[in-house]
Order: sequence, then structure tokens, then C-alpha cells
Amino acid sequence: MAVAVDASSVHVNLGERSYEIRIVSGGLAELPALLPSWLDRSVYRAGSSRLAHIVTDRNVRPHADVVREGLARTSWNCGLTELEPGEKTKSVNNLAAVWDDLIAAKADRQTVLIAVGGGVVGDLAGFAAASFVRGLPFVQVPTSLLADVDSSVGGKTGINHPAAKNMLGAFHQPIGVLIDTALLETLPAREFAAGMAEVIKYGVILDADFFAFLEQRAEAINRRDPSILRQVVARCCRLKADVVEKDEFERTGLRAVLNYGHTFGHAFEALAGFGELLHGEAVAIGMLYASRLAERLGLIDSSTTGRQEALLSLSGLPTRLPESWSHSVDAVIDRMKLDKKTLGGQLRFVLPKRLGHVEVVSDVSETDVRAVLTNA
Ligand SMILES: NC(=O)c1ccc[n+]([C@@H]2O[C@H](COP(=O)([O-])OP(=O)(O)OC[C@H]3O[C@@H](n4cnc5c(N)ncnc54)[C@H](O)[C@@H]3O)[C@@H](O)[C@H]2O)c1
Ligand SMILES: [Zn+2]
Repeated sequence: MAVAVDASSVHVNLGERSYEIRIVSGGLAELPALLPSWLDRSVYRAGSSRLAHIVTDRNVRPHADVVREGLARTSWNCGLTELEPGEKTKSVNNLAAVWDDLIAAKADRQTVLIAVGGGVVGDLAGFAAASFVRGLPFVQVPTSLLADVDSSVGGKTGINHPAAKNMLGAFHQPIGVLIDTALLETLPAREFAAGMAEVIKYGVILDADFFAFLEQRAEAINRRDPSILRQVVARCCRLKADVVEKDEFERTGLRAVLNYGHTFGHAFEALAGFGELLHGEAVAIGMLYASRLAERLGLIDSSTTGRQEALLSLSGLPTRLPESWSHSVDAVIDRMKLDKKTLGGQLRFVLPKRLGHVEVVSDVSETDVRAVLTNA
């Protein structure tokens, strides 16, 4: 089964904020040719200064240098801000560092800001683009699987407050996204697997055929076969774009389906302590808890959970909490009640009704949640 008719491009249809996600394998050099057409199609005017600025992190600096050299060869003047890798980078200090570099480079409204990195770089650079002179044209060149399939689609940008993740930010759509699956060759295996948790999530929430495709192609995906990866990434981007197109500013609640596995997952991630469980790993375990909760509520049978468990495991993800886990069920429940999606202390979950379809269930009793957390 082919999952995407055209795996080389996904159009995100958001009126005047519409943009293209271009998907290639080994084609970073295409960016200078794409930029003028993306600018022309955007609300920004292509400036005569041809000034660009890259934000990246130390781990992916070689990829950023390729982008920068390509732009320099086509007479773009391109600055660069290199940040430390890691979630802590999404801070107000680093945002200010990007602003400072833009001021020093005499950036103006036509300066193109380019994020070359994972979700951390993309979120921070996107917020810098949203805020500098009230909005710069922004381009994403994602380098992690998670950024390819999740953070580079949808226009959410931002940084963390010391007390709360992703608390400060803006919606700011890019003018274009260039995904080069060849960049994933340098991504550590654990990070690649973490991205796969979000990939598998799309299958469970929106697309049973895609889930079956992932089951059949797990081996090719694990060896990062470029053609399969392009199909996987294109399908995920299309699925997320479909949701974002209907609920760009997260007002109708439709975007909530994307949070499958995240109510449990966020609690596990936070309690485990920074860096212990990667976000994708926590989500993988969280999806299985959510699925078991759906079983308990009679929404699905155990085979639906079984297929998720098998695929997550095949993708190198944990399917249970670490051996060292010492947090009580109470601690997990308390943490879940702090989740953004909790309304007035009432626990809400995104639960599968079948593979490829989920619903938001808001009247789940604490007794059921407790039972699932106790019996897993
Ligand atoms: N804006 C959104 O809609 C959205 C959605 C999901 C997640 N996010 C955010 O994304 C962030 C997580 O993204 P992430 O998982 O990409 O984390 P990340 O950016 O920290 O990247 C993970 C690690 O992999 C390294 N890396 C990335 N690409 C690499 C490559 N090709 N080769 C070698 N190393 C590479 C990074 O340097 C980092 O150490 C979180 O801050 C999260 O809040 C945002
Ligand atoms: Zn996630």
C-alpha cells in the first residue's frame, strides 16, 4: 500500500498563511531555489537585501553550515546563532540572544529567519520570528523526526517559563518547511525512536491504514530507508495539517486529538525528572495506559492495545515504566490534574474507539484511572 500519492510535498492550507512542506532526501541545496517562491506566495515581500539568519544548535551545526553555504553561493547574506542543545535552551535569555544577533545584523521585516534543528530550535526561532519587528518570514529546516512530523507543522512557537513548559509563545506559521530525511542519519537512535512515538500516534488517532503500513514497514523505517521515510513523514504532515487547517488557533478543541497518550505521558515525563524519559518515550507508555483505560471503559478490546504495544516495541520504544519507577498512583493522578487539558479537576482523556479513531472523554472516573495505573 502506498500511503502518499505525492510524498514530496504537503500543502498546508491556511488562507494567506498557507505554505508548502517540501520533503526530500539529500536536498538541502534546494533551499535557495525554494526561498524566492515561498516569499512570493507569502504575505511578506521579497526584499532586495537578501538577508537571512539561521538559528541552530551545536549538534546540528554541520547541517546548518550546509544551508548557510548554499545561501551564500546564491548571494544571500546569512548570519547564524548557535545555541546549546537541549530543552533548557528554550529560555528567555536565548530568545534575547537571537534578538541581539538580529539587531547586530541590521535585520528588517524582509529578513528570513531559518530554524535548522529539532523542536527546541524550531520553537525558539519561531517565537523570535514572531516577535522581532512583529513578524519575520520564518522557514523551518527540521532535523529530528519529532520536528519533521510534529513541531514543524502547525505554527506553534514558544519558549518555557522556569515554572511551566511552553508557557510563552505565539502562533506564527512558516512561509515554508524543507524536510530532508537524510539529516536523520545523524540523529541518535533513541531520539529517532522517540519521534516514532508521535508517528505511531497519528496512525492510532486518525488513520488505521497508516498504522498497518507502519506495522508492515517497521524494519525499513528502523533502517531509515529514505523512500519509506519520505512517505511516513509526508503522511504525518498531511494528517497533522488536516487537523491544524480546521483548528489553527486551538479554539475548537479539535486539535486535542493530537494529545492522545499525552495526559498520562506528560505526568510520567514530569515525574521521571528531566531527561530520564524522553517526551516520545513517555508518550509511548502513555498511549498504552490510555488504550487500557479505553479497554476498561468498554470502548475497544485488548487486541487494539496489543497492536500498539507490538509496534511501539518494534520501533525501539519502552512499553512500560522504567524498573526504577517509584512514584505512587496518587502522584501520577495529582500530576495529571495539573495538565492543561484538565477542566476544573475533571480528568479528560483522548481515547481510541477503534484503530484510527479517537474521542475526547471527559467524564472518566478517578476509580477507573486508578485501576489502570495499578494493574498495568
Ligand atoms: N511547536 C509544536 O507544535 C511542537 C510540537 C511538539 C513538540 N514541540 C517541542 O519540540 C521540542 C522537542 O523536539 P525534539 O525532540 O526535536 O528535541 P530537540 O530539538 O531537543 O532535539 C533532540 C536532540 O537531538 C539533537 N538532534 C536533532 N536533530 C539531530 C540530527 N539530525 N543529528 C544529530 N542530532 C540531532 C538535538 O541537538 C537534541 O540534542 C520540545 O521543546 C517540544 O516542546 C513543539
Ligand atoms: Zn508529543
